[in-house]
Amino acid sequence: MRILLGVSGGIAAYKAVLLLRLLREQGHAVRVIPTRAALEFVGAPTFEALSGEPVSTEVFDDVPGVQHVALGQHADLVIVAPATADLMARAAAGLADDLLTTTLLAARCPVVLAPAMHTEMWDHPATRANVATLRERGVHVIEPASGRLTGKDTGPGRLPDPEEIAREALSLVDPALVEQSLVEPVETPAAAATENLDLAGRRVVVSAGGTREAIDPVRFIGNRSSGRQGVALAQAAAARGAVVTLVAANLAADVTDQVLTGPRPCSVVQVESTAELREAVRAAGAEADVVVMAAAVADFRPAATPDAKIKKVPGQGPAPIQLVENPDILAELAHERLRADQVVVGFAAETGDATGSVLDHGRAKARRKGADLIAVNAVGSGRGFGTESNEVTILDGAGDVVGLASGTKREVADALWDAVAKLLP
Ligand SMILES: Cc1cc2nc3c(=O)[nH]c(=O)nc-3n(C[C@H](O)[C@H](O)[C@H](O)COP(=O)(O)O)c2cc1C
Repeated sequence: MRILLGVSGGIAAYKAVLLLRLLREQGHAVRVIPTRAALEFVGAPTFEALSGEPVSTEVFDDVPGVQHVALGQHADLVIVAPATADLMARAAAGLADDLLTTTLLAARCPVVLAPAMHTEMWDHPATRANVATLRERGVHVIEPASGRLTGKDTGPGRLPDPEEIAREALSLVDPALVEQSLVEPVETPAAAATENLDLAGRRVVVSAGGTREAIDPVRFIGNRSSGRQGVALAQAAAARGAVVTLVAANLAADVTDQVLTGPRPCSVVQVESTAELREAVRAAGAEADVVVMAAAVADFRPAATPDAKIKKVPGQGPAPIQLVENPDILAELAHERLRADQVVVGFAAETGDATGSVLDHGRAKARRKGADLIAVNAVGSGRGFGTESNEVTILDGAGDVVGLASGTKREVADALWDAVAKLLP
């Protein structure tokens, strides 16, 4: 199915990324049309990378393609999530001042709006009147969920979960599609009874793999991380009942297969560079109870990346590559706390050297980063990276040992979740 995903400028715009991912995983072609304000919350490259299609906000961006009508005319379904108060006001008034509103006027397929805003804005008579007008015209406006909003307040106005939006929207086009694509894995009562579901209802974000920093269009600076430990963490959390988003940076091919064929679904956001990983983790982390940074993130990136491949000139040595420092994503997450009560966990892949042991370096990192837990593991000489087993020492933020785990990466993952579960409110 050809789906247009409109995204307007609300705090819940990050959830559109998860909805996009979900729809793409179900095999739909999705073109994202954000408003200018939406791009203040989520960058166009995220939508472009995940949809595989260009992103524009303006009617003048591709004039020969007559996008302002063509997109709407050829769509099977339009979903706007989140739909802001402003977007609904413009749609109700029939305004056509950007690509999304012109598309809404041109579309003749089912149109679904998923509003999200503070309760006061949702309850305002102007918004109520706009919603009523849109519904009268046949637009399907999903009721917002009740719950925690931006800041400390709660009430109606929350964007429903991406799974619910997809289910409700797809059912308007063809109810059979929902049955085929959104079936949950069936559990036998016996299996459920023996399971540990201590993370049920928790949202967790796990980053896995290793980032790549482009030197030019064909070369990059990378690292040896396969993503195996991060994927084991994501799968262990999902098995314990959590709703998991895996931010996957260049996983080894067999590890990718493992994610896609695992028994419990995780939302997967693929990223390549540290900048992309940072954006994806922060987007998904805004609502997460736990963020685990298991990915090996590059500390440095080339200062400049030319558009063309750097040529080898015979007789001339290589030009030096100047590096600049990347943001420290773990320290940022630990110090900012995207959500109150959020538990932030980091990994320290260390080698011992003349200045200290693996644990000394891990302790220093624990104190420096400000995370709640740091899992320290020795890497190099066949240990840690790419292997099936691992051995970690779990430190708290002060650098004190709170646990030891060794065995398969899944066993290590479960030991780490045991330590995390103790910190959850
Ligand atoms: C941090 C922040 C969060 C916002 N969240 C929402 C929101 O959840 N819902 C909403 O209707 N407007 C929200 N707004 C206001 C919209 O961004 C603003 O009305 C904007 O003009 C919407 O433009 P658009 O409808 O073209 O996307 C928010 C603004 C800011 C700065």
